Amino acid sequence: MKLSPSLLAADFGALRAEAKRVEALAASFHVDVMDGHFVPNLTIGPPVVNRFRHGVARPLDIHLMVEHPTRLASAFDVKAGDAFIFHVEAVDDAASVAAGLRFEGGRVGMSFRPATPLERLFPLLDSIDLLLVMSVEPGFGGQRFLPEALERIRTLRREIGDRCVEIAVDGGITLENVRSVVDAGADIVVAGSAVFGAPDPELAARALIEAAR
Ligand code: DX5
Ligand code: ZN
Repeated sequence: MKLSPSLLAADFGALRAEAKRVEALAASFHVDVMDGHFVPNLTIGPPVVNRFRHGVARPLDIHLMVEHPTRLASAFDVKAGDAFIFHVEAVDDAASVAAGLRFEGGRVGMSFRPATPLERLFPLLDSIDLLLVMSVEPGFGGQRFLPEALERIRTLRREIGDRCVEIAVDGGITLENVRSVVDAGADIVVAGSAVFGAPDPELAARALIEAAR
């Protein structure tokens, strides 16, 4: 299992120092970009993220909870291994958004709300590298994991077949449920509160990885 700590639960006044505490255990860092329109919360954007990443050795999974993902993406400094993840519900033509994000040079991911029918995603599986299954309603950290996500992960795993598409799961991950998420077919686990909300984030990250085994 790859762990992607979500910076949303970190101290925004000391982002790089927070990331450094768990970097050795992180496959990537998950960055929640919210625009106050697609979701009722507002976080950080390109100026903060571009400065944050200097000296951070891991790629970024940039979770774009925004109405105009393609327009915004070009303002991020992209490095090899970074991913732009857009929401299907935020766009009219997901295929052209995927193509536009591909042009930025990173990996392309697609995310979707807990109630979005999975069939909407199937035609796009050849255009993306990553599916981000939301196991909470997007917008806020610290919510409870929705157990229906497990069946959605299994369905997507079957539908992906032998394509090179990774499954990431985002929202409400804890020591108690991380194993079931991985058993259902997740490759990447996003964890905010379970890492940065713990008294010792490094210990917490290690415990999550152990619990997933
Ligand atoms: C929610 C965000 C998540 C959030 C998860 O909209 O997409 O990435 O940080 O936080 P936890 O792990 O606290 O549920
Ligand atoms: Zn996220």
